[in-house]
Amino acid sequence: MIKAIRGFKDILPSETAIWQKVEGVCRKLFHSYGFSEIRLPLLEETALFVRSIGEETDIVSKEMYSFPDRKGLGLTLRPEGTASVVRAFIEHKMYARSQYKKLYYLGPMFRYERPQAGRSRQFHQIGAEVFGLAAPSIDAELLVLLHDLMVELGLSNTTFYLNSVGCQECRPVFKKVLLEYLDKKKGDLCFDCQQRLVKNPLRVLDCKNEACQSILQLSPSIVEYLCSACQKHYAEVKSLLSFYQLPFHQNDRLVRGLDYYTRTAFEIIHEGLGAQNAIVGGGRYDNLVESFGGPATPAVGFAIGMERVVLALQNQNIALDNQQRIFFVVLGDEAKRKVLPLVRHLRKKGFFIEMSYQGRSLKAQLKEANRFEAQYALILGEEELAADKIILKDMNRSIQEYVTMDKVEEILEGKMASFIKNEK
Ligand code: HAM
Repeated sequence: MIKAIRGFKDILPSETAIWQKVEGVCRKLFHSYGFSEIRLPLLEETALFVRSIGEETDIVSKEMYSFPDRKGLGLTLRPEGTASVVRAFIEHKMYARSQYKKLYYLGPMFRYERPQAGRSRQFHQIGAEVFGLAAPSIDAELLVLLHDLMVELGLSNTTFYLNSVGCQECRPVFKKVLLEYLDKKKGDLCFDCQQRLVKNPLRVLDCKNEACQSILQLSPSIVEYLCSACQKHYAEVKSLLSFYQLPFHQNDRLVRGLDYYTRTAFEIIHEGLGAQNAIVGGGRYDNLVESFGGPATPAVGFAIGMERVVLALQNQNIALDNQQRIFFVVLGDEAKRKVLPLVRHLRKKGFFIEMSYQGRSLKAQLKEANRFEAQYALILGEEELAADKIILKDMNRSIQEYVTMDKVEEILEGKMASFIKNEK
């Protein structure tokens, strides 16, 4: 039997309601913050990711799904969305039309990581990117948006972590100091960090290994080496967050796993998720557009990990706005012909309706209605047909009443309205 490949999951109908809820809340909020959607290809030239994310990062060095196409062009299944948005921003000269641009995207990303709870090889992100704004107020606005999003989703136990990773001017100074410090303790670092020391020393800062952690306790902090412009930017972001009364923690070890960041870097952690607990990652990347041949354009953005948000919501047993279900029980061909236009009309009005497609007995159809978890069954047999009435059965309370055919819609509308009121 052929099964889905390791790290690639089906999202089953029983789960999709929660996915749709998250997507819906995000779309709504993004639109009110002025973002418009961009849909991007899943495949890009490999060079796009190598040059943006960085050759020495874990993503590029060991996690990409890369292969040559039939003509030998190196392609990669996108491991993230930012690089593609940057490419599209430049390719379509979006900078020429307005002073700044706010874009969002959603869809699958691919990383060859070791699958575990909250980590898969195909996963989904909802991301947002802002181009053309250097002001700290936009960094703060994105964090406020994310906070509003958590509240709207009903997601509790989240913590916002913030850092500044400096710029091309001050980061090399810090890198040098850090390297000097770590080099002295090289023998005590884990094997991976010894490699990182040569290739990407900043990555040592977020190593989870205990021995490395204890060495890092006394390591130099990046915030002490920020140039005055980066310091000012960071201070302003923090002051705005305080103004918005948004709680956050400073974490001067937060460096992120992608090389393009400058200044602001942030993550949101969900406390209940175990090892893979980052549900959002983002930050500023002021040099990326220019490095791909576009005009110098500051940029900032984030991506939400959908699987992890869904998992956290499932753990919290978040209730979904349920639609009331109605089942039509129809006995005989004539009754069916009478009911079909009504069913069609009610469905067009937005009612969630099923009916029995086979000519089964009353008992069998009521069983079907139960399996469908119908709140109401509408029953039409020969007797009701002759009287131009239909039985409305409340399936939970097992009580029923006769209603005339022309009143069915009105009565159902009333039931739905009181249901929605009670749900709230
Ligand atoms: P990232 O931190 O690599 O950032 O990914 C963002 C989020 O995607 C993570 O916080 C996590 O929730 C989710 N994620 C990452 N890898 C996996 C995986 N293997 N399985 C499940 N979820 C995963 C970026 O991708 C940047 N492009 C974010 C960004 C946008 N920065 C600026 N703009």
